[in-house]
Amino acid sequence: MDKQSVHGMWSSRTAFILAAAGSAVGLGNIWRFPYLTSDNGGGAFVLVYLACIAAVGLPILFAEVLIGRHGRQSPINTLLNLARETGHSKAWAAIGVMGMISAILILSFYSVVAGWTLHYSWLYLQQLFGGAGIEDAGATFGDLLASPGTLLFWHSVFMLLTIGVVALGVEKGLERTVRLLMPTLLILLLVLVGYGISTGYFGQAVAFLFTPDFSKVDGSVLLAALGQAFFSLSLGLAGMMAYGAYLPRNVSIPHAGVAIALTDTGIALLAGLAIFPVLFNFGMSPTGGGPGLIFTTLPMAFADMWGGVFYGLAFFGLLTVAAWTSSISLLEPPTAYLVERTELTRRQSALLGGAVVWLLGLLTLLGFNVWSEVKIGGRDLQGAIEFVASDIMLPLGGLLVSLYAGWVLDKRITHNELPQLNEGLYQAWRWTVRVIAPLLVLYILVNKFSG
Ligand code: PFF
Repeated sequence: MDKQSVHGMWSSRTAFILAAAGSAVGLGNIWRFPYLTSDNGGGAFVLVYLACIAAVGLPILFAEVLIGRHGRQSPINTLLNLARETGHSKAWAAIGVMGMISAILILSFYSVVAGWTLHYSWLYLQQLFGGAGIEDAGATFGDLLASPGTLLFWHSVFMLLTIGVVALGVEKGLERTVRLLMPTLLILLLVLVGYGISTGYFGQAVAFLFTPDFSKVDGSVLLAALGQAFFSLSLGLAGMMAYGAYLPRNVSIPHAGVAIALTDTGIALLAGLAIFPVLFNFGMSPTGGGPGLIFTTLPMAFADMWGGVFYGLAFFGLLTVAAWTSSISLLEPPTAYLVERTELTRRQSALLGGAVVWLLGLLTLLGFNVWSEVKIGGRDLQGAIEFVASDIMLPLGGLLVSLYAGWVLDKRITHNELPQLNEGLYQAWRWTVRVIAPLLVLYILVNKFSG
């Protein structure tokens, strides 16, 4: 008999793929991937990125999901139970503890940035109904960052949206939301790509993204590609382990994993094909992206183009949706843990977890104004939190998951969870998580610390 999760179960393979792809597709795909591509040699970066997804991302994704499915609990308790079941050290539950801390830290600034996308959506919505347009995009963005009240308002709205979904549970909350939002996201993106095609600069964007310039591939390109593969696939903080806990036994992890990675990568490429034609059309530089590209450069193009209000609304609506389905996957593991460990109901647990994240988010949002002088290691508060959580804790988490799945977890368990792989593919997966993935991830970490 298949063990069921007390939190509920995905109703089908599609539900799981939508939820996990919803986690993977986020702010990372829509602003980070396009500018990383442009800064790192266009097509060559795309090729290296795809190789990283295949060589490191996919194997670790399989590992996280299979551990979760075997344990059927929140990551920490899954790992503790596995320790009891197979006799290995309980210390491996540290992967779950560290993952939960990373999830809370990442969500604390992710929610503030998602709040910006809500603010911009609201501005375009007002413009649609006759309000003033964004005339000076740089000033609009500057004013937003300088206003703790506005930032707090949108951060709170976004956290409430996230808590609301998680509080409703796996089927009624998470699954229903991703079933609605993921197709919406795809439609919005296709509309935007359609506009890109109509600009006459689509060919230039395609050439930019897909013509490899191998002379630009060096250690730092590899590093950027590997880091992006991690962040984009939501790996290293046991979020995929939490989602794996709700996966029915008959669903093939390798097939679902490949579908998730393809969706994540496909959407990143489509985002590039939506953004670059608009930038080229207005003679703007695609490099030096980051927050600036999306929140200042792009709105300047929207202000000049026909139907720019609709484009702006669709674009920032898309970003909000993408951020929303990612943020629920960040709040789910702490919520599930509280449900298992305390007397609190799911609603109370989601609210408590969300309240902690909301409070931590104040560090990020005050760091942009009141505490803008505060610097940690040369970074502002948001930058420092992002650096510690995503650049250090995620790769470290991924490294530990990989070693755990390859060397510690009983081979019978991993074999049993991946029956769809023939012996050759299973061995390839196993040696990848034992040796190849850890070495590559170690390489990123060492670079971070020494650089
Ligand atoms: N994958 C998300 C993105 O690309 O924006 C970010 C993220 C979500 C990272 C959830 C980690 C996570 F658990």
